[in-house]
Amino acid sequence: MLPKILVFAGSNRTGAYSKKVANVAVETLAGLGADVTLIALADYPLPIMDEDLEKDKGVPANAMKLGRLFAAHDGILIASPEYNSSIPPLLKNTIDWVSRISRDDDKPLKPYAGKVVALCSSSEGNFGGARGLYHLRSVLMNVGTQIITEQCSVIHAHEAFAPDGTFRDERTAKSMQRVCQALIDHTRFESSRR
Ligand SMILES: Cc1cc2nc3c(=O)[nH]c(=O)nc-3n(C[C@H](O)[C@H](O)[C@H](O)COP(=O)(O)O)c2cc1C
Repeated sequence: MLPKILVFAGSNRTGAYSKKVANVAVETLAGLGADVTLIALADYPLPIMDEDLEKDKGVPANAMKLGRLFAAHDGILIASPEYNSSIPPLLKNTIDWVSRISRDDDKPLKPYAGKVVALCSSSEGNFGGARGLYHLRSVLMNVGTQIITEQCSVIHAHEAFAPDGTFRDERTAKSMQRVCQALIDHTRFESSRR
């Protein structure tokens, strides 16, 4: 069975580096034999997490859609920007809403259970957004996912991509290869235990 991997970026910005990183991840994962789905969070707009809203109207339909998508995949790769050394609000809000899901009509639904997650980041700076991944890693661990050790942080993102969308730097490409291979290996291991 091909591992099913969901890929998305933590930014909706036009021309976002993290979307470009997500695109490289899709190509790399597909090249390694994964069955890849790329989504854009812009297609699943959500209100800011608000417990009164949740009480009145329940979990928004778009969060339910994302929750079902998470549950339907073996692994998830997130390409995130770093905002003030931490998780961008779009991504945190998405994680928070999806964490409120426990049922889908009459059936239990646990979007994060047993999910293997790989993290990538990007920024124009020297750290490539890696500091934000410490926080993202911690939050995702606490909602019950398994995050692989390998990660890919794209430094100097404004000059990191060739016109065809690939990484100019061979080391960055190798880093992405390692992340994607590890994600596939871990999802296969997790699937074999089910
Ligand atoms: C509120 C805010 C905070 C930011 N904080 C950081 C930061 O801590 N480190 C960093 O490298 N870049 C920071 N940036 C710059 C982002 O890395 C930059 O806008 C990047 O292009 C966003 O990612 P994207 O291209 O995927 O949309 C920040 C940007 C914003 C809007």
